[in-house]
Amino acid sequence: SRILNLAVIPGDGIGQEVVAEGLKVLSAVLPQDVKLETKEYDFGARRYHATGETLTDADLDALKRHDAILLGAIGDPSVPSGVLERGFLLKLRFAFDHHVNLRPSKLLPGVATPLAGEPQIDFVVVREGTEGPYTGNGGTIRKGTEHEVATEVSVNTAYGVERVVRDAFARAQARPRKKLTLVHKNNVLTFAGHLWTNVFDRVAAEYPEVTTEYIHVDAATIYLVTQPERFDVIVTDNLFGDIITDLAAAVSGGIGVAASGNINPSGAFPSMFEPVHGSAPDIAGQGKADPTATVLSVALLLRHLGYETEAARIEDAVSADLAERAGQPARSTARIGDALAVRVAG
Ligand code: IPM
Ligand code: MN
Repeated sequence: SRILNLAVIPGDGIGQEVVAEGLKVLSAVLPQDVKLETKEYDFGARRYHATGETLTDADLDALKRHDAILLGAIGDPSVPSGVLERGFLLKLRFAFDHHVNLRPSKLLPGVATPLAGEPQIDFVVVREGTEGPYTGNGGTIRKGTEHEVATEVSVNTAYGVERVVRDAFARAQARPRKKLTLVHKNNVLTFAGHLWTNVFDRVAAEYPEVTTEYIHVDAATIYLVTQPERFDVIVTDNLFGDIITDLAAAVSGGIGVAASGNINPSGAFPSMFEPVHGSAPDIAGQGKADPTATVLSVALLLRHLGYETEAARIEDAVSADLAERAGQPARSTARIGDALAVRVAG
């Protein structure tokens, strides 16, 4: 029998509630011969206040031993902005070299969208996860004076760009429409933009079946709203990817259904799966949070570990559940999790 050895990080706010439902559905979908082993970690605001720690080297050593990581949400208004973001989330993504930040957007039947008509939305954003303006490469001089200068340098390496571009081409090649869009801003960010464009064009030559296009990030925000069907796979840098995936979530059912994977395709370190949403302290503990994004993140986790059948079962269950929920009063966190667990088992 096989073992799935999972690190579970519920984190802050609604993270606790949604992760519980994610695990419920995971247990229900796994075949009999797979033994689920979970170890919970108490990272987040509570531990930070108690110990001053966000994520230590010992923590990373412990996390390294798991097959994958399931994360709820990290962040709380009681902790200064940036402390947990840099000290936990980004530290983990960088330490485990999660260079493929995978964020699918699919508008499922019955799900409300602010867009007019009946838009067809089914694309996936491959967001670079370890470089760009997220590296913390910058500084401030004359801080606090009226002559303060702050820099935030975007780091782009040929190695880092090529590996994520290659991953995106492979994903595009595997999809029926076989289309890949590079989103950047190479008319202004000419150094990084040209690196991205050159690498993209070079790798494109190896994928003659993949249709390619280039769109500036500002224009991409227009097309995501006016012609979302235009997109199949998008590859982009860390910050552009952060921004456009929130927009993508907003048009395809909202943050309650947006899933993500922070993937290290080499398997050298465990990949981490998390809903795109945050800890939502305003609704925490009330059973109001939609666990669907976490459940869909569990599907991405299963697919990454080779459980394709189970991943697809979860996605089908979510699709059926959302169609059933359409037009009905909002259901509680646990009720949604229960319904999904029944569907994937049945
Ligand atoms: C996300 C979040 C993070 C990011 C923050 C919390 C560091 O917005 O996962 O999209 O910017 O990547
Ligand atoms: Mn974000």
